[in-house]
Amino acid sequence: MTDGTPRSLAGENPFPLALWAEAVYSRRAIPATLATGSPAPGTGSAEPGLLPHGPRLPLAPPPLHLAPTPGSPATLADPAVLSALLHYSYGLLQHDLTPGGWPLHRAVASARCRYPSELTLVSPTAAFRFDPLHHQLIMQTASVTSRQAADPGVSRFAVITSRFARTARLYGDYAPRLCAQEAGMLLGAVHLVAAALGLRTRPGQDQETLHGLCANLLPAGAEHPMGYLEILRPVKHPGDRSWPPPDLASVLRARHSGAALFDPEPVLSPKALLTDLGAALAAAPFTDFSCHLLVQRVTGFSPGHYVHSDGHLRQVSDGDPQTSLEQIGQTEGRVSMNFRSTACTAYIAVRRGAAVARYGADAFRRLHLTAGAAAHLLCVAAARQGLAARVHNGYDAAAAERLLGLAPGEETVLFQVAIGTARPGAAFRVPVVF
Ligand SMILES: Cc1cc2nc3c(=O)[nH]c(=O)nc-3n(C[C@H](O)[C@H](O)[C@H](O)COP(=O)(O)O)c2cc1C
Repeated sequence: MTDGTPRSLAGENPFPLALWAEAVYSRRAIPATLATGSPAPGTGSAEPGLLPHGPRLPLAPPPLHLAPTPGSPATLADPAVLSALLHYSYGLLQHDLTPGGWPLHRAVASARCRYPSELTLVSPTAAFRFDPLHHQLIMQTASVTSRQAADPGVSRFAVITSRFARTARLYGDYAPRLCAQEAGMLLGAVHLVAAALGLRTRPGQDQETLHGLCANLLPAGAEHPMGYLEILRPVKHPGDRSWPPPDLASVLRARHSGAALFDPEPVLSPKALLTDLGAALAAAPFTDFSCHLLVQRVTGFSPGHYVHSDGHLRQVSDGDPQTSLEQIGQTEGRVSMNFRSTACTAYIAVRRGAAVARYGADAFRRLHLTAGAAAHLLCVAAARQGLAARVHNGYDAAAAERLLGLAPGEETVLFQVAIGTARPGAAFRVPVVF
């Protein structure tokens, strides 16, 4: 933009094709002001928009456990199910009391805790925006006549939108990349928690359906439609599953991304990390991705390069992956974190060439939904073993392609997630109870 306004705020195509080069293959789009935490040029200093106005509906206290309702099919008409779905997908779960830190942490990770994603339940008569900080719903649209009948329990879609301005305030034109990643992670979270509650969902990327769901819902230009999940008729017997795990609620309450500088203890992680990781990825909402793992310290697995695709984990090569980790994990020529002591680092790769040929600029949104949903599952699988998982965008996408043996010009890495045993740190996080 010539006037300094970040492109992400200028109402143009939210995902121009140039974004691949500017925000995935390089970090050119990140403004120099990020290092100081000052507002990016063109974004001003005011905090961008608050939640919509409308009647507020308090939600029931979230249950401490996530499980299908015994004896009857799960439904959003049950206040406990509605509350649990929202809280464990995107609710406020931890309060970090460390002075000068980022105090509020939600169920899903977010770059510098900006939380640009928004979650809205859409029913035939109304839309209900989730307000995680107050654990409430805000009724956004309802005609006067249908207002009495408007009931979040009859919602048929969970819709994910994104306020780029929240993230662009620090990240400028890099915001669409982060917002697309985070929308995918939120989609993965809703899909996971719904499954744990016995709700059936069908995740969707279709642009026409998405725009139809968002019509009359979004303030013009301020919020972008990203993805949705259709909430289907429940099944009576969800069947046996190894994933989601029965202790999911406590796992989500404990999930975290580690200390400011990711520097885990160099200790062996349990074998179950990779078993859970495999089960989680096999249940991912979208399947068109592969997950490469550079394993260093996992009991029962020799160090090396593994790939999880089509539901199976196979070893590609053995040997200490430290050199590859440090060649991939670079931020402007310097290693982004202490990769030497991780248990393993995961890279989520997608078929960019085919997707761009088919969907053009919209491939960016679609592929980030796919990869983001898988990335959240990695974070949850790590948390189940008491480990920290750090999504970190300080990686060289071209080096990752080369060193992981991806198909040149076709496959691209969209997420780097380092997993390890967090050292005791200065942070003091307390659980948030509604
Ligand atoms: C899409 C995305 C990108 C991120 N990129 C970085 C990064 O480049 N460097 C970094 O140190 N942390 C990065 N993070 C980690 C976040 O800052 C971290 O998730 C946040 O502090 C919230 O902490 P919590 O997950 O423990 O609640 C990223 C997180 C997300 C979701």
